Amino acid sequence: MSIQTRVVPVQRLSQGPGDLSLAEWWEKERSQKTPESQAIEEAAKLLRSSDIPVAFPTETVYGLGADATRSSSVQGIYRAKQRPSDNPLIVHVDSLDMLERLLNPTSQGSPKSTRMLPMALPSIYKPLIDRFWPGALTIILPNPSGSILAPEVTSNLTTFGVRMPSSPLARLLIHVTDRPLAAPSANASTKPSPTTAQHVYHDLKDRIEMILDGGASGVGVESTVVDGLCDPPAILRPGGVGIDEIRKCAGWENVALGYKDGTLDVKDVPRAPGMKYRHYSPKARVVLFDSTSNPVGVMKHVQKDLKDTAIGAHKIGIIRTRNWQLGLGLASEDDIANTMTPVSSAIENIVSVPIQIPVLENGKPSSRTKIAYDYHLGSDAVSIAHGLFAALRALDELNVDVIYVEGVSDCEGDLAAAVMNRLRKAAGAEMRV
Ligand code: TXA
Ligand code: MG
Repeated sequence: MSIQTRVVPVQRLSQGPGDLSLAEWWEKERSQKTPESQAIEEAAKLLRSSDIPVAFPTETVYGLGADATRSSSVQGIYRAKQRPSDNPLIVHVDSLDMLERLLNPTSQGSPKSTRMLPMALPSIYKPLIDRFWPGALTIILPNPSGSILAPEVTSNLTTFGVRMPSSPLARLLIHVTDRPLAAPSANASTKPSPTTAQHVYHDLKDRIEMILDGGASGVGVESTVVDGLCDPPAILRPGGVGIDEIRKCAGWENVALGYKDGTLDVKDVPRAPGMKYRHYSPKARVVLFDSTSNPVGVMKHVQKDLKDTAIGAHKIGIIRTRNWQLGLGLASEDDIANTMTPVSSAIENIVSVPIQIPVLENGKPSSRTKIAYDYHLGSDAVSIAHGLFAALRALDELNVDVIYVEGVSDCEGDLAAAVMNRLRKAAGAEMRV
């Protein structure tokens, strides 16, 4: 069954409520019948009554939302994404009141509670919530007996993950829907997460009815997931909030890294076996180089990689961060000066430049020309995180066969850890040359 997909602009609301509360802000928009308020109202209605999820912007990436209290609605997420359903989903709340209702289901009918932290909240989370909410941090909590959450949200675990997004649009949508929303990233399973409404449209058109377009997501990688129910507490997924920032909070000084990123030496490439799912993957093969790799070693490796006719790469993508030269040093100065051209693509500043790969033809040294699409993603972790998924998607649209990526050092405890975690999954392996 194919569904007509609409992208509905609501960008004006991404500026937020100013001094107003969410309720006051909504009252004002609704009474003025602004086009944006009508879009939010329609989205909220779909979320409450339909089993087709709605895509909406958050500060990290776009989410594919469903009413977290209804099984049939949550199942709609898995259908639309075509993703296996054994992965628990993150629940999004607009307020601490809503979190209170999740932790204490019987308090639902009670008079409006204050903005105090819920009683049942484990105290280890208090400093994190004070500091990072609303924002890109997901915490793991015990799922109470009589929980209002559909079992599909938690994959039947005894815990659930929850965050309060800082995106005013996301919070407004939750507020108007008046339900906690389960929302994974709104990409087709295995693809890079979407950071614009257009990315969502590309992946999910004809599978969902509505995409709220609030402009590009600021952070660009998903939330950091932390588990404070174990001792010591652990980071389960690096993300938008840096690990060093978390370490500054009381009780989190010795937080453990509960995720594994594999680094392989060159002899083990191209792909680490045994990965359960492909993730964040463009169509092209992604080759990630460790930040300590010597640029000359990278150049030689790429030459060798491209010489191998079995690999058959004709168009190549290059994503540079801190040290690599334009065209990886494989383009002549002449070509850079005279033949390099800007490429029309979903993101700005990709250039195309011919590169020469030395080969032997009938025993004689010769060279073969390939087209490189070169993109400088940025040098600081914040801009690298912001543009990463859009860059992978844009190179894919240019139909490159392979993407070489310059990794960044992730010892710094900042967003770079999240960037490298996603890149390792996209590449399957990281190389050090
Ligand atoms: O930034 C984000 O977090 C985005 C946006 C849309 O908010 N959402 C997102 O959701 O990434 P999702 O559902 O794809 O994240 C699921 C991940 C799981 O793979 C797991 O790492 C963690 O969240 N998670 C969720 N519930 C958990 C639980 N009960 N125990 C351990 N990990 C859990
Ligand atoms: Mg995802």
